[in-house]
Amino acid sequence: MEPILFAHLTDTHINVTGKNPLFQMDMTKKLRELFAELGKLSRKPDFVVISGDLTQDGDTEDYRHLRSVLDEEKSKLGVPVYVALGNHDTRSYFREGYLQEEPTEESYYYSVTEKGLRLVVLNTQVPGQHGGRLDEEQLEWLRKELATPATGGTIIVHHHPVVPTITPLMDSHLLDNPQDLAAAIEGTDVIGLLSGHIHCNNISLFHGVPSAAATGVAFGIEPTSNDSMKFVDNSGYNLVLVKEGQMIVHPMAMAGSQQVVFEWKMDAAQAHS
Ligand SMILES: [Fe+2]
Ligand SMILES: [Fe+2]
Repeated sequence: MEPILFAHLTDTHINVTGKNPLFQMDMTKKLRELFAELGKLSRKPDFVVISGDLTQDGDTEDYRHLRSVLDEEKSKLGVPVYVALGNHDTRSYFREGYLQEEPTEESYYYSVTEKGLRLVVLNTQVPGQHGGRLDEEQLEWLRKELATPATGGTIIVHHHPVVPTITPLMDSHLLDNPQDLAAAIEGTDVIGLLSGHIHCNNISLFHGVPSAAATGVAFGIEPTSNDSMKFVDNSGYNLVLVKEGQMIVHPMAMAGSQQVVFEWKMDAAQAHS
């Protein structure tokens, strides 16, 4: 199989421009700048995947806005864009505004194959909750899906990460039931896991499978603080190469002021990313 290169973005947190802007930053501008960077790469990615927290507190109008921005950017870049849901997303608004379907609470997970590589996009978002979980219905679907190997292996995309981080505070944001994911992928063709949610790069093995969380497109979080969350004006994405059955991840940084734009004190409020 020919090597495949794709871009893994996460945590775009956009709303309609000018509507309740998070940290007074223009997240649509950040997303467009990131796509412009992808367009300047010497080798164009084969596709783009975004692993959740697509909107900040999105309603249907925000998802329509996101869809129109992504439609425009993907046609400029000339590659498909796939998306997953995160804890900031709302299934019904996403279905109505982004997918242009009936606004139901149906979970959003699927698989696609690009040049022999199977991309499995999961839904770890639980309506109304900050934490993430894979429910039994989805796990059953995943086990069935993975029962047949793909030519070029499988990469799973999910919002809530699964490998330990630097601090117990960050660890409290991991997937609630990683053991169920581990059991579902054991002995299958899964060669990598890609996630977001924690807004910082975090790379390790998960039951022998490489797992990489990317920093956010919208902002980063300083990863060493255990009593507060420091939201930083920076951005980034991961370039992912699949070659000879291996997933190789290149974290790519984007310019930003690097200033802490907000500090969320843990003694004053619940964790929020
Ligand atoms: Fe996020
Ligand atoms: Fe999140």
